[in-house]
Amino acid sequence: MDHIEIKPYQPLLLEPSLAALHYGQAIFEGIKAYKDSDGNAFIFRPYDNFRRFNNSAERMSMPVVPEEIFMEGMKMLVDLDKNWIPNSPDHSLYIRPFMFSSDPVIGVKPSDSYKFMIILSPTGPYYSTPMKIYVEEKYTRAAPGGVGFSKNAGNYGASMLPTVLAKKAGYDQVLWTDAFEHKYVQEVGTMNIFFIIGNTAVTPSLEEGTILEGVTRDSAITVLRDMGLNVEERKISVDDLMDAHRAGLLYEVFGTGTAATISLIKELKYKDYVMQFDTENWRIAPELKKRLNDIRYGKTPDVHGWMYRI
Ligand SMILES: Cc1ncc(COP(=O)(O)O)c(C=O)c1O
Repeated sequence: MDHIEIKPYQPLLLEPSLAALHYGQAIFEGIKAYKDSDGNAFIFRPYDNFRRFNNSAERMSMPVVPEEIFMEGMKMLVDLDKNWIPNSPDHSLYIRPFMFSSDPVIGVKPSDSYKFMIILSPTGPYYSTPMKIYVEEKYTRAAPGGVGFSKNAGNYGASMLPTVLAKKAGYDQVLWTDAFEHKYVQEVGTMNIFFIIGNTAVTPSLEEGTILEGVTRDSAITVLRDMGLNVEERKISVDDLMDAHRAGLLYEVFGTGTAATISLIKELKYKDYVMQFDTENWRIAPELKKRLNDIRYGKTPDVHGWMYRI
């Protein structure tokens, strides 16, 4: 991997013994490019995704991708295709870098060869209605020492059955909890989670390596602090949440991610205890979403240096 090639989108010709298909060395990223009202193109925090990509690569025993390949390749591709960044509000160009092992060998070992690629797709507005969530007590997404912090394909494969079961039961997603007791909160579906308790925004901390270090999560922490809230990154038990709810102090619950930005949660169920929220009257999550979008679409000064100009 020592040079960048840009080709028209096309099928790949791959061996049936392709290592990634059998042993799962496959990682990816999700990033978005936006246009401001003058038509200038920007990518939101791509260096953070670049760092996370290489953290995933290391955990999966894959080679790290040099910055000049990842960043230059992305820049060249988005520049070439910038007319595909829609001009309309709430639209963007989704950027999907990915890498997989490509040895044509049946045998469990790190591959000697890998393919790194970036594909693009324009995306429209993501009208997410407030979600119904239950606390997952059977299935586990991640355990300490595992791969929860990495954006590898297997994490998503493993999450599909629990998510299908949640949908069958009338819920939108599950709230993942710790592998040992199913008591401590991790993430919601494929989003990081925030709770507004009193005047404090609380989100699970990263140190156990069981949650993905979301770029939107980090941006939300910064913007919530800009808005004057205290933000705590810590262990959060479902019991703490229920206590706060009973005391009338659990005001808002929302997920953060590149796709939906901020996704409101209107119902959270744990065993027989159901917490319901009147999302229409929330103030913090909608304000956070607006501030993030204003930065992304160049409507407000980019004081944190998040927008990477193409
Ligand atoms: C498991 C998981 N958690 C959290 C996130 C949110 O991360 P980000 O804000 O970087 O999109 C994602 C999406 O990438 C995800 O797949």
